[in-house]
Amino acid sequence: MENRAVDPDGVLAAAMRAVRPWTGATVLDLGCGTGFHLPVFADEAERVIGVEPHAGLAAAARRRVRDRPNVTVRVGVAQALPLPDASVDVVHVRWAYFFGPGCEPGLAELDRVVRRGGAIFIIDNDATRSTFGGWFRRSLPKYDPRKVERFWTRRGYTREPLMIRWSFQSRDDLAAVLRIEFPPDLADACLREHEGLEVDYAVNLWWRCP
Ligand SMILES: C[S@@+](CC[C@H](N)C(=O)[O-])C[C@H]1O[C@@H](n2cnc3c(N)ncnc32)[C@H](O)[C@@H]1O
Repeated sequence: MENRAVDPDGVLAAAMRAVRPWTGATVLDLGCGTGFHLPVFADEAERVIGVEPHAGLAAAARRRVRDRPNVTVRVGVAQALPLPDASVDVVHVRWAYFFGPGCEPGLAELDRVVRRGGAIFIIDNDATRSTFGGWFRRSLPKYDPRKVERFWTRRGYTREPLMIRWSFQSRDDLAAVLRIEFPPDLADACLREHEGLEVDYAVNLWWRCP
């Protein structure tokens, strides 16, 4: 499912830009999926590289940016980036692989590829707030947000709590996304309990300037 409904206000891009703009920079969008965010970076960056493990998604991302000569998409994983040392200025990772404990191999790769003066941005759910955060907690009762927060803080990442929203054209679209995100019973309960076409969605923007 295309995530065009997520963050229609560009809250995340604005927060990242305030920390480290990417005009003229080399940007890595890691775990880029179908490349939804690549054009946003390509408008201002000198070069954008999407890395995505699934060949089918990488192919879709390439199709999306075929008229963007400054974008390339590579098949690869966070734990073994297909990039040279000190070759990237800004890393953007949204809901991909970097979920706290267990992602240390990927963090070591980020340290290798990011140049001095660069910035790493990692976006993940904030299970402690918002309608979506409540649903997320119900889907993963053992998830411990404090443990995740400690993980990032100990590694020198700053937390910026932000509120984005899902915005849908129809209830069917909302239902389709909920059924991707959650088990069928929970998706049905969320639909029953939540009216309208919008869902408030808390996220954490974790960032570090190496
Ligand atoms: C929820 S999707 C998010 C896609 C995209 N970042 C977005 O916001 O639209 C998660 C993505 O992470 C990718 N992924 C999974 N494991 C990965 C890994 N080890 N390294 C890099 N990406 C990974 C998946 O293939 C998928 O495209």
